[in-house]
Amino acid sequence: MTHVQSLRCRECGREYDVAPIFTCEWCFGPLEVTYDYDAIRSSVSREKIAAGPLSIWRYQDLLPVEHNPAVDLGAGFTPLVRADRLAAQLGLGELWIKNDTMNPTNSFKDRVSVVALSKALEFGFKVAACASTGNLANSVAAHAAHAGLRSFVFVPANLEQGKIVTTAVYGGNVVAIDGNYDDVNRLCAELAGMYPWAFVNVNLRTFYAEGSKTLAYETAEQLGWQTPDHVVVPVASGSLLTKIRKGFNELYQVGLLDDEPQVRVSGSQALGCSPVAAAWLNESDTIKPVKPDTIAKSLAIGNPADGYFALDAVRQTGGGFAAVTDDEIVDAMRLLAETEGIFAETAGGVTIATLKRLAADGTIRPDERVVAYITGHGLKTLDAVVDHVGPTASISPTLDAFHAAFDSQDLLA
Ligand SMILES: Cc1ncc(COP(=O)(O)O)c(C=O)c1O
Ligand SMILES: [Zn+2]
Repeated sequence: MTHVQSLRCRECGREYDVAPIFTCEWCFGPLEVTYDYDAIRSSVSREKIAAGPLSIWRYQDLLPVEHNPAVDLGAGFTPLVRADRLAAQLGLGELWIKNDTMNPTNSFKDRVSVVALSKALEFGFKVAACASTGNLANSVAAHAAHAGLRSFVFVPANLEQGKIVTTAVYGGNVVAIDGNYDDVNRLCAELAGMYPWAFVNVNLRTFYAEGSKTLAYETAEQLGWQTPDHVVVPVASGSLLTKIRKGFNELYQVGLLDDEPQVRVSGSQALGCSPVAAAWLNESDTIKPVKPDTIAKSLAIGNPADGYFALDAVRQTGGGFAAVTDDEIVDAMRLLAETEGIFAETAGGVTIATLKRLAADGTIRPDERVVAYITGHGLKTLDAVVDHVGPTASISPTLDAFHAAFDSQDLLA
């Protein structure tokens, strides 16, 4: 049973019954799920959660889903890895990596797509769809296959080969659009009005977005029901960042945390698509849409739907923002891999490059407990690093050849 009360407009506060709707009919503001937190407080406990499944469904009390069994390939409960070697390189103290590359389709999007698709089944939809910068398409295609739904995923045609292949393999429709994500999104908004499909991030966006809260829940549970002092989150539409903040606050509201969380939230974007970071750096409230041009294609949303809310969350919590270059992204992907053994996609490079910048300028302090969210796997964006790494030596299969390579110091000590 769900503890959802209503859908409420984030702009004017008007309330709506639960339905596959996403904007307020009075002011066109985005809708958000509201819950009966008193009911949740009497239903949840740390023990009940600990006894739950090793997936996001251990937090079902805090999610807007009734459907049981929900759509489930095991999304969530990914490792929180202590990153001492990376911390030492960056001059930080207690640093953790939330390794969301370990999800069923190797990105955090599995968290949002399973919530949306579970809701889609409740509403009786037969077709799953989405507008995507790659990872969501991947996740929706896989989970639709698992749930027996047809799927139509819409992506910019210039996506990385890895993202197309890992989506198309599930056998649904992959529609490559000659345009950028903002063009894809506009088309999907039109299609959602014409076809009776569950567009997970259009007509089901209100529910979809709630899945990201589980990143905060898991982080707190894995830290022994404590919260970090500072988190670093990649920003595309801005939904993930705002929901991670909401997640920490909700845990306190329902009695799962002893102390009110004081989590500083910092955002990361690639310089080639940094409309939210630019507003923060210019101390402006206006997010000016941009035309994306960056290797971080998963974050290439030029007109971010939740950009203002992400900006506001960073400001209210005293976090920071950085817009990092493509070279910094590749260096950071390699740094994370070399120090911690975690191969992140370009979005992870954006996060670690931001962590590095904010550690260097003192925004993130060595006395803070820091969590960096690594949201997608490097195998999906091999293109970004393929020209930068390769064999340390190429030799014939003889001892002499190996000794020669070793002596010439081609090999690393
Ligand atoms: C790997 C990865 N990280 C982070 C994000 C950002 O998510 P949001 O659009 O909620 O800001 C995305 C979005 O596509 C993504 O693919
Ligand atoms: Zn409204």
